[in-house]
Amino acid sequence: MIISRIYIFNVLIFQKGPSDVGCNWLISSSAPDHVKVLLAFPRGERQAEVIGLACERLGWYVTEVRDTEEALDQFQARCHEIVIIDRRGRYCQQADEICRALNNIHHQASIIIAIVKKSFFTVSDQDKISTLQVLDNGYNRALIECSSTEIVMNELIGIYANEVQPKLQLAVAHSLYLAVHRCRDMVHVTNDRHFIQFANEVSEKLLGYKLEELLNKNLSEIVICENFTLMNQQLQKGREFHGNMNCKRKSDETIMISSRIIPFCAYGRRPTHYIYIYDTTYLLENVEVTSTSSSHLHPRGSSHSLRSFDIGSVGSDLQRRSSVAKLHNLPLEAPITKVISLLTTAMTDAVSPDVVAQIDKAIEILKTTELYEPYVREADEIFNDPVTSDLIGALISAPQYSRDSRRSSNDSSGRVSQVQRILHQQPLKTMSKSPRAPRDIEILLDGCFNWEFDIFRLELLSGRRPLYYLGMNLMNRYSVPARLNCDERTLQNWLTVIEVNYNVANSYHNSTHAADVLQATARFMESDRLKVLLDPLDEVAALVAAAAHDIDHPGKSSQFLCNAGNKLAILYNDLSVLESHHAALTFRLTLSDEDVNIFKNLDAETYKIVRYNVIDMILATEMTKHFEHLAKFVNVCSIRTEESQSEPFSDPVDSSVLLLPENVSLVKRMMIKCADVSNPTRPLTFCIEWTKRIAEEYFRQTDEEKKKKLPVVMPMFDRSTCSIPKSQIGFIDYIINDMMEAWNAFIDIPEMITYMKQNYEKWKEYNERGISTLQDVERLQQSAELQMPQST
Ligand code: CMP
Repeated sequence: MIISRIYIFNVLIFQKGPSDVGCNWLISSSAPDHVKVLLAFPRGERQAEVIGLACERLGWYVTEVRDTEEALDQFQARCHEIVIIDRRGRYCQQADEICRALNNIHHQASIIIAIVKKSFFTVSDQDKISTLQVLDNGYNRALIECSSTEIVMNELIGIYANEVQPKLQLAVAHSLYLAVHRCRDMVHVTNDRHFIQFANEVSEKLLGYKLEELLNKNLSEIVICENFTLMNQQLQKGREFHGNMNCKRKSDETIMISSRIIPFCAYGRRPTHYIYIYDTTYLLENVEVTSTSSSHLHPRGSSHSLRSFDIGSVGSDLQRRSSVAKLHNLPLEAPITKVISLLTTAMTDAVSPDVVAQIDKAIEILKTTELYEPYVREADEIFNDPVTSDLIGALISAPQYSRDSRRSSNDSSGRVSQVQRILHQQPLKTMSKSPRAPRDIEILLDGCFNWEFDIFRLELLSGRRPLYYLGMNLMNRYSVPARLNCDERTLQNWLTVIEVNYNVANSYHNSTHAADVLQATARFMESDRLKVLLDPLDEVAALVAAAAHDIDHPGKSSQFLCNAGNKLAILYNDLSVLESHHAALTFRLTLSDEDVNIFKNLDAETYKIVRYNVIDMILATEMTKHFEHLAKFVNVCSIRTEESQSEPFSDPVDSSVLLLPENVSLVKRMMIKCADVSNPTRPLTFCIEWTKRIAEEYFRQTDEEKKKKLPVVMPMFDRSTCSIPKSQIGFIDYIINDMMEAWNAFIDIPEMITYMKQNYEKWKEYNERGISTLQDVERLQQSAELQMPQST
């Protein structure tokens, strides 16, 4: 009851403003049901019957007692709001005894009434006022005997409204006072000149003053507002003020606390009081002040404290938390601040020091900005193998700042003007008129959805133009021209322009890799899961992104470009350098010519969606974000519905959650990522060829870094010493395995996992056989045990 009333009080005070608090906020003023009445009358008294009847008609409960003992027992058991005692004639002495006994119990909310004869007021001693005599004996009032039930009823209601109810209100006010006195926020109430009228227990603890020292002190001697003028203006207008207060402790130390000040009008129109509420709960979590005379903040339970503080560090910790609290007071709240705030509350309630320490650690971690940036534990096995640590370290860590400002030439300007030239080259024109591919290519492309599709044969048959042929085939299968409302010729031109902007000189990042990623993406989209999840525009965007995702790759990593002070690194501020370039160049080339622009017929809104998706997917291929994308994807995909938990064979993924646009984006990012590094999950001969190509590219980078005296990003990738099998074992262990397992669980292409496991075992075997360098791998490729497959 009291709690709900306190709640009502809070709602009124804190939401509507103090001047709205009326005098009837504690309890209803209408005559209530269930009032408990104690009647102390001798047996058989007619007056008791009349009062009993009146109470019955009011719906009140009556208990009748005869003597003091019985009266005490009943009163203690039921706490009656009204006690009526027969004080007429010979019962007077007994009545006074009962009244005294009840008063000794000190039940402030009850009202004790004496029933007296009419003559009581008239015949008594002329010098004495009869009512005073009643009051002196401990009664609250006297009521003249009356035989009319109606009159008694009306009297009782009047007594309830005017005497019982204010007492109940006062009792609740006492509870509120106790609540404010004991609450974890510091509270001060001042008069309109800011002299302290009330300070709760926490002020004593936190500020180091005794309550007597605080009362009647001008608050401005202790509490200084950062923006005093604004505060005063607001308060005088009767408005709440929120801000940081610098609270000076008795020890002279200052603590900044996020606070609010509420003006309160007890009467009239101008504020008569100010209520200062300081957000100090979080401070008390960290400090314990043992005595009011102490001027120090002590660490919680010094001997078994979770952290150790000195006063200075407490001060800064308090300030830091104060600003976190301030952040939490903002109307806009990010999910992460909400989580931190929930954990902080959980820490407040936790009793076990271990739990408190764990939550505290969790909060510290959540406060770091790079939540998904992995770090490798020093003790991890990854450090056992330098090749693995070099490769994984280089792939997942963002470029380090380098003071080296040398530049290498990777100028892509002028590419747009190339588009015209490319478009008007004779072979292309001929091809545009005859979109049919040569017969052997067509036969090969019939199997373009197989996971064993031979991309290297297509590279060979197409004269190193696999992206064009595979792209035309797959994009037609996915009705890209129809979905984009462009003609097939524009698509041919687009694929041609994209393909020629891949560097043929790169051993790995060339248009064959783009075609391979495109093929994997198309294969993934054939799965039942993705057919349901992706809409036609998603599919188009995915194919476009896959085809263009590494366009104009220089064959060097972003880290290399940053170290070399390359133009692209300068342009993109060392952030996602290559991926930003791939995405930006894709659109620059696409929009540069009407004959190339596959998006030209889309309305503005659709174009915006496709553009967003293409960029988002290309950016997702950045390996420094690998663990972030994987973690987010796994989080969503491991959401289970309640039904599915009880049915072991049902689909564990909650499709209603998956269909949320942000989750579809996670899936699309994972799709292009898996396609991008799917080479270890392809049949062994392809896997080895890809490995040879990427290793060659890494080696060329190392060669160039050494030649140009740049920092060597992966020193172990030196062509004379690097163990290629070891690099693949590490790559599968740390990057590929978990991601492909998660992806396969989602879209069900088990052959990926089968090949990945077979390849992994093979790399282990090759390692044991002493196969290490590129030459060793090339010899292996020529050997009888491994022949590059000639057809699918
Ligand atoms: P990129 O295509 O930019 O993004 C994925 C990266 O993974 C790729 O560059 C390579 O650096 C790396 N990668 C892909 N395949 C292999 C592999 N088989 N061995 C080692 N690294 C690889």
